[in-house]
Order: sequence, then C-alpha cells, then structure tokens
Amino acid sequence: TIHPVLLSGGSGSRLWPISRESYPKQLLPLVGERTMLQDTVGRVAGEGFARPLVICNDEHRFVIAEQLRQISVTPFAIALEPVGRNTAAAAAVAALIIADQDPDALLLLLPADHVIRDPAAFHAAVETAAGAAAAGNLVTFGITPTQPETGYGYIRQGAELTAHSGVFLVDAFVEKPGIEKAADMLAAGGHFWNGGMFLFSAAKLLSELEKFEPAIVAACREAIAKGSRDLDFFRLDPDAFGAAPSISIDYAVMERTDSAVVVPANIGWTDVGAWSALWDIGAKNEDGNVFVGDVMTEDAKNCYIRSEGVLTAVVGLDDVVVVATDDAILVASRDKVQDIKKIVERLKKEG
Ligand code: GDD
Ligand code: MG
Repeated sequence: TIHPVLLSGGSGSRLWPISRESYPKQLLPLVGERTMLQDTVGRVAGEGFARPLVICNDEHRFVIAEQLRQISVTPFAIALEPVGRNTAAAAAVAALIIADQDPDALLLLLPADHVIRDPAAFHAAVETAAGAAAAGNLVTFGITPTQPETGYGYIRQGAELTAHSGVFLVDAFVEKPGIEKAADMLAAGGHFWNGGMFLFSAAKLLSELEKFEPAIVAACREAIAKGSRDLDFFRLDPDAFGAAPSISIDYAVMERTDSAVVVPANIGWTDVGAWSALWDIGAKNEDGNVFVGDVMTEDAKNCYIRSEGVLTAVVGLDDVVVVATDDAILVASRDKVQDIKKIVERLKKEG
C-alpha cells in the first residue's frame, strides 16, 4: 500500500500577516473552507492509501491532531520534530517509522501546502508512478513550467521506461537554479518543474540516504530509538534529532541519485508560496479583483483584498494586495509580494 507522508514544517513567511510561525499557512483555510493540510489529507484518504503520517514541529501537535479529527481521519502517526532539520531528515524519520511496520511500504511524500485542482489527474499520476516506485525508482512528478522561476527544482526528461509507460528517466535534476540557468532550461524545452511530491519505497529512500547522507539516517534512527510514543504522537529525541544535518531531500538525494524518474503530472498544481498565487487561482470579479471577507472597492482592478474581520475598503488602486487582520495590515504591490519575507525577518530581529 501507499503511505501518505505529509510534510508540515514550513512557516510560510511570504503569506504574512495571515501565516505566522505559530500558525503557518498549511494550518489555515487559505483556499476554500478546509485548511491546506486538511485538503492534502483529503486527497489521499481512501482506497489504495494507508492512514497518513504527518511530520511537523512539536508546537503544532494539538492543532494538527484537531484538524485531522475534524475531517474524521485517524493518523498512522504524528511525528514531532523538536527542531526543524529540513526535508531529508523528515522523510528519513517517516521512512523508518513506517518501514518498521510495513517493510515493503511505498511512501508518497507530500508538502501540506500545495493546491491541486484536478485530484483525479493526481490519482492517475500516482497510479502510474506506483509500479516504477515498487521497482526501486524514486519517482518525481513533473509540472509544465510557465516562467523561469528560481524557487523550484528542474527536471530534464529522458527516455520512457520500457517496463513502465508514462514514466521517464530523469536526465538531470537541478534544484533552485539561478535565473539564467532557469531561463535556459525553459527555452531549451524538455524540462519540468519538480512538484515537490515524491513516491518511493521506504527501503530505497533509506538506502540512497545511507549512501549520500549517512549521518541523517543515523541521527533519525537514534532520535526514534531514544524518543517516546504516546497515542498517535511520536516524539523524537531532541539531542539526537538536532544532530541531523539540515538539508532538503532535493539536494541530499534527488540531485545525486541514479534512480530518479519522472511522471508528467498535469494536475492543476500550485505552490501557494505568496499572495500573488492566491490572486492567480482565486475567483475574480469583473474588475479582476479577488475578495475574501468584508471588503469593498471603488475604481480598483486586479487586486487581492482579504479581511479577517474589519471592513476593508480600497479606492483607486490597481494590482495591490491588501490583507487586514486584528493586529497587522499589509499593503503591497502585487509584483513585490516575495519581499514580504523581509518584513517578517525584521519583525523577528526587531521584535
Ligand atoms: N516536517 C517538516 N520539517 N517539513 C518541512 C521541513 C522540516 O524541517 N522543511 C520544509 N518542510 C515542508 C514544507 O512545509 C513544505 O510543505 C515542504 O516540506 C517543502 O519544503 P519547502 O521549503 O516549501 O521547499 P521548496 O518549496 O523550497 O522546494 C521544494 O518544493 C518545490 C515545489 O514547491 C523542492 O522540492 C523543489 O524542488 C520543488 O520545485
Ligand atoms: Mg514550498
């Protein structure tokens, strides 16, 4: 069976002031009624899937347990990180916990903060990937790129596998290239964005990590052995887990392995990284505005305006993002929303 593993470690700083460290974007209903975590779990709850394992910061354990309960999902486990050690360590912990109970398990590693508008196509892609993953490949999901985005991994598509139709070799995996290299790859064609979701057997992931980053596997094994379990919660030992090198699975494994393959996935994927993405996918009125909450405009076009309570009015402005909460108000140019993280960094420093 396929074990969904949800990564819920990010803080989503570019979605300030809604997303906060204490309450990051994946735990919020940013798109629709359910939180992004609930939407992600909902997509993999059903036939063919084992119960999900969620791996998150210790601080979020009760919110996450409650959000799963709200949608009537009993987790396989909720693994609690005392500190974030990036996605390679998170994946290793999940693989070790699950392989202990199901040595042949396939892991479907999923960020808890992505939007997928075509779940049927997503399920079809996972089905296509399953055979190749069971045969010892590390399967990535390829998204057709639309601009030279530097925040993603790039995958050069190779030949189709003879034993698995719809699955292609990865000729090269380049994590977060510079802008020039990204533009070159886009212009050359034959490249995908890495969707950040992976399907592989727990055993294969662990053997690749043993090869490239043995200290991660050792630290995670020890963190589980010295950790504790109560109810669904797996608490990792802080000293042991803290010793794991902090590196993403993309750099640690995907750039280095010979076993990467890609399934092209036309699934309506969006990485909801910044407010501009919520404008992109939002329902627009005749002026191109997206409204959430108690909002009014006069002579405003192509804006994203969101209020968590106070009536918020915008007059005579185009292409802005306005987000009003109880204790903070953001007004930003829609093409500068990446820089919101600079404000968050200053808030952290200056308090
Ligand atoms: N549990 C846990 N612990 N989760 C984590 C940690 C951690 O230490 N660090 C990150 N995550 C979660 C994030 O919350 C997110 O859901 C997912 O893992 C991926 O991490 P990001 O930090 O968002 O990665 P990225 O967006 O820079 O890059 C990845 O995703 C891109 C697509 O969105 C890479 O896989 C890229 O290659 C890919 O293109
Ligand atoms: Mg991301």
